[in-house]
Amino acid sequence: MKALIIGCGYVGIPLGVELARLGHVVTGARRSPAGLEKVRQAGLNPQAFDVCDEAVWHALPTDFDWVINATSSSKGGADQYENVYVQGNRHLLKWAARSRVKRIIYTSSTSVYAQTDGSEIDESSPAEPKNLTSRVLVEAENLLLEPARSGLAPVVVLRVAGIYGPGRGHLFQAYLKGEAVIPDDGSRLSNMVHRDDVVGAIIAALERGQPGEVYNVVDQEPVSLLNFYSWVSRELGRPMPPNIPSDQLPERKRGATHKRVSPRKLIKILGYQLKYPTFREGYREPIDAVLMSQSTGVAQ
Ligand SMILES: NC(=O)c1ccc[n+]([C@@H]2O[C@H](COP(=O)([O-])OP(=O)(O)OC[C@H]3O[C@@H](n4cnc5c(N)ncnc54)[C@H](OP(=O)(O)O)[C@@H]3O)[C@@H](O)[C@H]2O)c1
Repeated sequence: MKALIIGCGYVGIPLGVELARLGHVVTGARRSPAGLEKVRQAGLNPQAFDVCDEAVWHALPTDFDWVINATSSSKGGADQYENVYVQGNRHLLKWAARSRVKRIIYTSSTSVYAQTDGSEIDESSPAEPKNLTSRVLVEAENLLLEPARSGLAPVVVLRVAGIYGPGRGHLFQAYLKGEAVIPDDGSRLSNMVHRDDVVGAIIAALERGQPGEVYNVVDQEPVSLLNFYSWVSRELGRPMPPNIPSDQLPERKRGATHKRVSPRKLIKILGYQLKYPTFREGYREPIDAVLMSQSTGVAQ
């Protein structure tokens, strides 16, 4: 297949490498020259591209079979979300209508689920986020799912949990920097997924995903902050982070969700087997790397 990965970054590059290994021809699109250099170094075809710029969509060849829109908001606010996710996907749909594309994957987020009661969440659970940025993600999903459910666009939506992996994972990185804190009693649940499982889930969705369907991409064990940091502290033989009252957290970290997002549909319907079913498998390698550097005296 001829595949186009738009927003070819942390997930997109290893995705492109794996698709190329499987024999597909892969173009990686993004804006920055430095990022495009990484795409080239990974052996993929680099394409300078801004998803918000309608003119570049007009110039884009129409012979891609698979398109993955993995563009990020570059840590922007609601306006940036609107541009990248709503305008960007609007351009994508127009392009799709005059192309031969067979499957489009859009990587949304489990942040669309606003539940705070610790309940189990599947793809039919209400997605009614309170914050503006997640509401834009829902708008973008609906924009894509409506034509997909009428058979007009072959779009599959993946709702991806917090991604960790080589060099990423905000809880673990904060712990290593000595900046981690445990709000209140630490019972709030975190839902995460290893980067390589995001890659695997995207490929499964390209191969077998049903247009108009939504799949959660998350591992099998929502973990409380207390349990996560207890495990990390035990493995590394270091102290636990301090507890603080949640009203002392920065504004953006308050009112966080508390939910158990289920990967059942990903596993049972899409037939994807997680490489890292829980954080314990996923963090084995980085933990061992820290232990190794401790024993050899190299700082991490
Ligand atoms: N990270 C998470 O925990 C998480 C959780 C849920 C969902 N997701 C979603 O999963 C996808 C992949 O995430 P990721 O961690 O791989 O993101 P990432 O590392 O930030 O990569 C996405 C790339 O998109 C490119 N980009 C940004 N704006 C663009 C634009 N206007 N036009 C074209 N390219 C643009 C950026 O490269 P340039 O700056 O070079 O353009 C960036 O490298 C994203 O859709 C993200 O929203 C991520």
